[in-house]
Amino acid sequence: MRILSIFGTRPEAIKMAPVLKAFAANNKVESLVCVTGQHRCMLDQVLDFFNIKPHYDLNIMKENQGLADLTSAMLLGITEIITRERPDRVLVHGDTTTALAATLAAFYKQVPVGHVEAGLRTGNIYLPFPEEANRILADNIADMLFAPTKLAKQNLLSEGIAESNIFVTGNTVIDALFYTSTKLEQDKSLQSKVARNFPFPTKNKKLILVTGHRRESFGEGLKQICEALGNISNRGDVDVVYPVHLNPNVKEPVTEILSEFPNIHLLQPLDYPSFVYAMKQAYIIVSDSGGIQEEAPSLGKPVLVMRTSTERPEVVTAGAVKLVGTSTSTIIKEIHKLLDDTRTYNGMTKTKNPFGDGFAANRIVKEILSNG
Ligand code: UD1
Ligand code: UDP
Repeated sequence: MRILSIFGTRPEAIKMAPVLKAFAANNKVESLVCVTGQHRCMLDQVLDFFNIKPHYDLNIMKENQGLADLTSAMLLGITEIITRERPDRVLVHGDTTTALAATLAAFYKQVPVGHVEAGLRTGNIYLPFPEEANRILADNIADMLFAPTKLAKQNLLSEGIAESNIFVTGNTVIDALFYTSTKLEQDKSLQSKVARNFPFPTKNKKLILVTGHRRESFGEGLKQICEALGNISNRGDVDVVYPVHLNPNVKEPVTEILSEFPNIHLLQPLDYPSFVYAMKQAYIIVSDSGGIQEEAPSLGKPVLVMRTSTERPEVVTAGAVKLVGTSTSTIIKEIHKLLDDTRTYNGMTKTKNPFGDGFAANRIVKEILSNG
């Protein structure tokens, strides 16, 4: 079976890497990879670490790209590749513009689509933006939907998607996390390289690890988040470490507001093993990332999510994640509470991860071979 996997951003690459590894170990699959290059540097960091060598690279990223430009350029580029390669199936991941454009391009060429990480919903088409709409569209075109959890399957069923097309597999990010975590434990030279480049927390301090990039927080939301972090850094017993997303709508305001605080360390995006190491060192993670909400419970780290809704309510129910929105005062209050109240802290660190056992990719490949 000839499968063309298409992805383009950092999180898609991390989550598709285990699937590509499972394809490579199976002689019934001819696995082709097309990256759109929706991200450049942040994608290449992942391709390097997982040793992924794409057959096609559309190299599409432009500074501060718009959604319509991005979608139309990808639609044309991907269509050309599908026309040339005539795959039996296209595989896409998640809810990015790459996922949407690849799904649409495959549909126009009448090639069946498998959607990894199907069925996530907030129920609000603008939250997150544009991801909620992207994943609804992809789920309604795909004929194999790999749902990470039973709840995601339920979301799909309630939209009228046929049960026979849905496969509950767990999330492949857990496969990627376990692989990387084990590599970090076993590969001493990788471990010391990563530790040298990430010297946090410093003596007698607790590490607060921060990421943030959601489009719906651009402007006022991000400003409020930065003000909260500045305030928290006055405590003196914390190192606030923030690997800043390269989107100029994030990088510029964050750098402008937070560069001068002594306990705030703004970094370039970390490669995946360095970020996994950073999560392991963290006392608290403060983020709006989807992937981090899925990973952190496996490491026993509490996550304060700077959003008002999540498509991953499983981790909120499990207790590992709390939604805190983007208001300065709420973020400050919730971080203080986690730092100072041991009971609250412990209540968020001992949860079972609902997103899987690290074998999601094998299940996806098995289903594709038997049903695809
Ligand atoms: C994209 C996805 C979002 C996903 C996020 C993960 C869309 C619309 N958005 O958001 O769903 O959660 O990736 O990080 O699909 N840039 C660089 N170098 C890079 C990456 C980005 O310079 O390696 C800058 C460029 O100026 C680029 C801008 O960031 O134009 C925006 O990138 P884009 O992929 O459009 O949006 P993200 O905010 O990264
Ligand atoms: N990540 C990384 N380096 C960083 C920040 C995050 O490798 O500096 C990883 C993180 O572990 C997770 C993924 O990138 O697996 C999340 O990506 P991002 O926050 O860009 O996107 P989202 O998950 O919100 O779609």
